[in-house]
Amino acid sequence: MPDASPAKWHLAHVTWFYEVMLLKPYEHNFKFWNSQFAVLFNSYYNGVGDKHPRHQRGLLTRPTLAEIFEWRKNIDARINSLFKHNHAAELRWLIQLGINHEQQHQELLLTDIQHLFSTNSLLPSYLLKDKRPTACLEEFKWLEGQSGLLEIGYQGDAFHFDNEAPRHTVFNSAHALGSTLVTNADWLLFIEDKGYQNAQWWLDAGWAWVKAENIFAPLYWSLKDDGSYCHFSLYGQRKLVSQDAVTHISYFEAEAFARWASKNIKAYAGARLPTEFEWEAFATRQHAADLFGKVWQWTSSNYSSYPGYRPWGGIAGEYNGKFMINQMVLRGSSAYTPAGHSRTTYRNFFPTHARWQLTGVRLAKD
Ligand SMILES: [Fe+2]
Repeated sequence: MPDASPAKWHLAHVTWFYEVMLLKPYEHNFKFWNSQFAVLFNSYYNGVGDKHPRHQRGLLTRPTLAEIFEWRKNIDARINSLFKHNHAAELRWLIQLGINHEQQHQELLLTDIQHLFSTNSLLPSYLLKDKRPTACLEEFKWLEGQSGLLEIGYQGDAFHFDNEAPRHTVFNSAHALGSTLVTNADWLLFIEDKGYQNAQWWLDAGWAWVKAENIFAPLYWSLKDDGSYCHFSLYGQRKLVSQDAVTHISYFEAEAFARWASKNIKAYAGARLPTEFEWEAFATRQHAADLFGKVWQWTSSNYSSYPGYRPWGGIAGEYNGKFMINQMVLRGSSAYTPAGHSRTTYRNFFPTHARWQLTGVRLAKD
């Protein structure tokens, strides 16, 4: 799977990130632990040289996991001794960046393991405890959104990504947002009504994707002989639970579902996807269910820069800004997001066909 990376690669890559971002500029007499690792574990930073092709990360049998742990122990020890003598604000910020970066990879580790295990005919469980982290327990209703001129974007002194700033004014027309998420039960209605076979609900690029990839249901759904569906997650293969939030859908599917539901589900009449600014204003003021900690919620907003946006300086400037094309914004956080790694202003982003992340939908309407 070209978008996913092995667990060992994630561990090595976050180690490389600390080495190149913190130790290289700040450590006296800095030397790479192994300068060849820089090519293997550089993800996408053109400013620091060559990189191993992403789709071939799964073929890296060397270095071994033991060697990577040894490297990480060395990097951790050197960071600890650096912080004994240097308390510069810039260095404190860089360690926060390194930790936030590692948290993002902790989430990717789980989504990548889920995908890897899904391709194994044993369908192994990664987690054994019987939990439903995406259960939707509240009843759906429309809640009024914040309209008019509003301030959007990060405000404060704590860590945040450059793409969340600067704070600026936007205009929201009158609208409402769903009090909770779209569920598997809703999605089954879409499937039963032949939503995946009917071009009228789909964007042209979405329809081409459905056809080319033979898409018939969300990722990890499988049809049983009796016509029911099973769902594969980190908890293994199980019967689909209709009250759970729908997960692992692409932007194309979220958009098509909203268009179909608008016409076919009474409670969802007029439904569309929210803009990221409707979502943010809503999350700031409303106490709706499942804003965070269940699924990333697709918005209809293109991932682009806010007015006055400046990428961070140095290599960190490649972190977010250069991806501001051909991707859509997702808001909230998922059941796989590490605790403390969510904000109302947080902007996640993925291409329109991506669905191996824990993605779902909250609807809006004018
Ligand atoms: Fe990374």
